[in-house]
Amino acid sequence: MQDRFGHRISYLRVSITDRCNERCTYCMPHELQEWLPREEILTYEETLRLIRIAAELGVTKLRVTGGEPLTRRGVLDLIREIPKIPGIYSIGLSTNGTLLGREVKPRVTMAAALRDAGVHSVNVSLDTLDRHVYSEITGRDLHAQVLAGIDAAIAAGFAQIKLNTVLMRGRNEDQLIPLIEFAAARNLILRFIEMMPVSTTEVLSEKNFMSILETKRLIESHYGNLIPEPSFHTNGPATYYQIPGREQRVGFIGAMTNLHFCESCNKLRLTCDGKLRPCLGSYLEFDIMKPLRAGASDAELRQFFLDVVDRKPEQHDFRNNYQPDRKMIAIGG
Ligand SMILES: C[S@@+](CC[C@H](N)C(=O)[O-])C[C@H]1O[C@@H](n2cnc3c(N)ncnc32)[C@H](O)[C@@H]1O
Ligand code: SF4
Repeated sequence: MQDRFGHRISYLRVSITDRCNERCTYCMPHELQEWLPREEILTYEETLRLIRIAAELGVTKLRVTGGEPLTRRGVLDLIREIPKIPGIYSIGLSTNGTLLGREVKPRVTMAAALRDAGVHSVNVSLDTLDRHVYSEITGRDLHAQVLAGIDAAIAAGFAQIKLNTVLMRGRNEDQLIPLIEFAAARNLILRFIEMMPVSTTEVLSEKNFMSILETKRLIESHYGNLIPEPSFHTNGPATYYQIPGREQRVGFIGAMTNLHFCESCNKLRLTCDGKLRPCLGSYLEFDIMKPLRAGASDAELRQFFLDVVDRKPEQHDFRNNYQPDRKMIAIGG
């Protein structure tokens, strides 16, 4: 699958739920609290069919996300089926980490079960090491569970574990160095993400927005100049740097300020309610659930994917186009 601008689409992010056990201020504002009814969510069977069709069209990498994907019942049953789909060779999972350490059966953590089911890499969100600030950001006092979840993920032996930190002025700029040290001690890749205006108006303001440029400066004032690693890539648009004098890598995701952010975009999103979204930062989304449930053939669904990819914008349009009523949690991060 290739779009009009030469982006080759090989990466599908699949959101399996809009539900979550946390309430992050930037993702799911308190006042907008309505879960989608079960029948409006793709079943696992439907999700797997769409993944198979995407794989037939050249998708090789998949990320399961949400909402909090680990809150959906039977998530392991879904994930176990994904490696059986020909063409998919990399499976990632994005999670808030709260449930990774939970035992799914005696002495087997969710993390270990996910690894066993075929997940290669996990991204865990961690915005702060301060338990109280964590509760303020996420609306839940689950910091200890996240730390235990990260330990469980390390013990499970994933090929890659990344920590994702959303930058918030006044909330976590004092956490940059502690988080880098936390990641260093565990040999994890840490990435800093600029806040994107995907949920409410308050999400993004001059007051709370912190750019990658400023973040880098703060980090460099502590460690010295970061060393660019242009040849190191993961699946997404992060740029990576090495901390001088260390093996440690940190990544930066500058969706708002990096003008080249979309140049190498290889992504397509499937929301839990069966919409294909060619770009997170655009209002465009296309309802594939409708033809799917109306009995469309594989060939028709393949054509649907191709038509969506054909409408992928050249770049995101967060600044002009954000949608207060389409929450990040429902789109899938
Ligand atoms: C929507 S979450 C879904 C997966 C999982 N619940 C989690 O928290 O990692 C995926 C990622 O999106 C990030 N995110 C959510 N809202 C955001 C926003 N407004 N700007 C930037 N990143 C955001 C989260 O921090 C998280 O790293
Ligand atoms: S960022 Fe993740 S953990 Fe936080 S509310 Fe959104 S889906 Fe839940």
